[in-house]
Amino acid sequence: MNIAVLLSGRGSNLQALHRAVESGEIQGASISCVISDKEAAGLVYARENGIKSFYLPPKDFASRQDYDRRILEILEAGKADLICLAGYMRLLSDVLIDAYEGKILNVHPSLLPAFPGLDAHKQALEYGVKLSGCTVHFVDGGLDTGPVILQQSVTVYSDDTVETLSERILKEEHKLYPKAVSLYVEGKLQLKGRTVTIRDDI
Ligand code: GRF
Repeated sequence: MNIAVLLSGRGSNLQALHRAVESGEIQGASISCVISDKEAAGLVYARENGIKSFYLPPKDFASRQDYDRRILEILEAGKADLICLAGYMRLLSDVLIDAYEGKILNVHPSLLPAFPGLDAHKQALEYGVKLSGCTVHFVDGGLDTGPVILQQSVTVYSDDTVETLSERILKEEHKLYPKAVSLYVEGKLQLKGRTVTIRDDI
């Protein structure tokens, strides 16, 4: 299975996925390409590790649909089976959502549906929750609204800052995302309505 990773930033989740592929935690898959809308650290990691990488500046495209059509060309040329969003800061248009329905995953640093969108850690601290965490979910047309695959909770301490909370949640993301991708690659995720069940019979 060919996995394409879309990112916009430092790429620590890309690294976690790549390590999981290399170590055999994710079996039968490889990261076939990385696409970024920014000259990001994640792209540098991809290049240094021999992963095909593409930098697509949004200003070179007339619309979001045109942008996503170019991504689709790259994905189809590379026969990508699965798209993993890893800190990708653009909303996907119907061009990608329709072409890769049920084949796009994302990791988000909160227990969805709480605190979707930007600044999830800040939102959690301001709300005063005692538990937050991370979620891996299928991607649909909304903002962090797709069916939940796996979640991991993290305690929020009274002296937490955005930095300390992000750091603690990120550690869990690096375990949770490879686990979810591995389940996907093994064909163990079953989606009914918006409920994902994990098959243990195969
Ligand atoms: C992560 O916190 C992820 O949950 C969110 O964006 C951040 C990306 O971090 N969607 P990195 O670029 O993978 O280090």
